[in-house]
Amino acid sequence: MDRALFELTPPTRWLGARLEVFAEVDSTNLVAERLGHEGAPDGTIVIADRQSAGRGRLGRSFFSPGGRSLYFSVLLRPAMPLEHVHRHVFAASVAIAACARAALPARCAVEIKWPNDVLIDGRKTSGINLPVHVDAERVVFAVLGIGVNVNLGADELPAELREIATSLSIAGGKSLDRIRFAEELLAQLERELDLLRAGEFALVLDRYRKSFRMPGAKVRIGGPGVAREVIGTVLGVDEEGALLLRPSTGGADSVERVLAGDVTLLRGEA
Ligand code: BTN
Repeated sequence: MDRALFELTPPTRWLGARLEVFAEVDSTNLVAERLGHEGAPDGTIVIADRQSAGRGRLGRSFFSPGGRSLYFSVLLRPAMPLEHVHRHVFAASVAIAACARAALPARCAVEIKWPNDVLIDGRKTSGINLPVHVDAERVVFAVLGIGVNVNLGADELPAELREIATSLSIAGGKSLDRIRFAEELLAQLERELDLLRAGEFALVLDRYRKSFRMPGAKVRIGGPGVAREVIGTVLGVDEEGALLLRPSTGGADSVERVLAGDVTLLRGEA
């Protein structure tokens, strides 16, 4: 494996003060959860070169081959109510989008697809999830899981991902220093998380909206756990990050507020 992953030195104050680096794990989220139950401190990072059972959102798997990409989980013990914990995924997507933009030529279009997929030229390059552990409605800890396709080659993507996924190297046309990218990302992530902790989610959302190009798009919201599929036109995100839609079946003034789900962009449908 790339030995340099063991040399990762986050240029941060509290994020990654405890850093656990592995050549391979089942899922960095699972390792971070174990550490969470054992009492590891807020900001602990678990990073692995490869995951044998990488976990995606909504019960899916996350393609995690070795030597190319970044897979890490941040153990968080946030002092905020349960209904605000989802804000961390907005902070993470803003950090990834900023670092992707800085690492890529200006011709590459970096955008965020609600809630937290960072797309480059319309294809997904990173995934974020946030399992939260609660006890009697109180947040005990949360695990912010982040995967970024850094130097994955187009021929390495499984057939089912080829049309919908990409990597920074595919989009930018050249390989990146994966460890340097990780260090920049952790520094940026710490800045966004500091804003959250200072009660400045509105500032994080302002930055989110700058990368959010979905307003006006026709979408379908569905997926596992979504009781009722909705089709409509995206209006924006509200002050809590909920997606605001004008449903295609409603009146001209109707607005639907979506808190969770899978978004499919409908081109010429609907
Ligand atoms: C998604 O887009 O569905 C979310 C993917 C999250 C993947 C990351 S990779 C590091 C961490 N460990 C996991 O098993 N999942 C997250």
